Amino acid sequence: MAASAPGKLILYGEHAVVFGEPALSTAINLRAEVYVRPHEEWLADGASIDERRYRYVKAAVRRANARGPLWIEIRSMIPSGAGLGSSAAVTVATLGAVHAMDGTFDARTIATEAFEVEHEVQGRASPIDTSTATAGGALLVLREPEQDLLWSIERDTRRWSLHRCKLPPLDFVVGYTGISAATGPLVAQVKERVDRDPEAAERVREIGRITLEGVHALRRNDLAEAGRLMDRNHVLLNELGVGHPTLDRLVAAARPHAHGAKLTGAGGGGSMVAISEEPEKAAQAIRKAGGKAFIVRSEPVGVTPLP
Ligand code: PMV
Repeated sequence: MAASAPGKLILYGEHAVVFGEPALSTAINLRAEVYVRPHEEWLADGASIDERRYRYVKAAVRRANARGPLWIEIRSMIPSGAGLGSSAAVTVATLGAVHAMDGTFDARTIATEAFEVEHEVQGRASPIDTSTATAGGALLVLREPEQDLLWSIERDTRRWSLHRCKLPPLDFVVGYTGISAATGPLVAQVKERVDRDPEAAERVREIGRITLEGVHALRRNDLAEAGRLMDRNHVLLNELGVGHPTLDRLVAAARPHAHGAKLTGAGGGGSMVAISEEPEKAAQAIRKAGGKAFIVRSEPVGVTPLP
């Protein structure tokens, strides 16, 4: 049995979403596939599932009550530690494969369990990555449920309501710094800052407002305004301490060929995203500045069992 799930880009609102602020994401056309079959011992890619790099997979099979042992194979097109949701896609595809094997495949269950897995492994998380990998397409995260609700997920006193969001078809230019940074410590660092600094808390709220304005701009196809809001979102993320000089360099390189650009995902390295009507030129400029560039599209298909 097997399942696949897409990676994602956060267009606005990373980090702020962990505090319950709005965020906008889209699944992208880079996918992870996970294959599972009964075996004599637990294996991942032929190695021990206890190895650190398989901690999401191990937590996922436990969360899904998988009847094991299983031999698990992972194939992913999503660079890991790049802010593109590779761990969420692998987690969701693992849950998809296990539930398909057990005849209990259900998107909402997978989204809920995948969030629990990320939370357990990272210590703190929002459901944005895992729900986007599950549902595909673009997702708007709001505190309160509104029209086009997919599902709500709660944790402690926080609640996230995940909505389907219709956006015009867009190409996104991604620039990967080649620096892989773990999400957990960056999320913890932002929480610590917000707890002691009211200005940091205000930046988190401003990111939430930017997300809502960005959604409106994208929906009316006002790419200039959507880009300006991305630029502002990037400044605020830098002020929250999750930037990196290499990210700034790639963002600056892309901007002459883009409406706007910002870091995407957890930061501290990882990747930036630009919206551009000259994606090839923006990608070339990113490569010239030392980044790995690729052009991705919004991907409508979420987690799917494979034959
Ligand atoms: O870099 P990624 O793909 O792990 O994205 C993390 C997004 C955060 O908002 C920073 C964390 C979260 O769980 O929402």
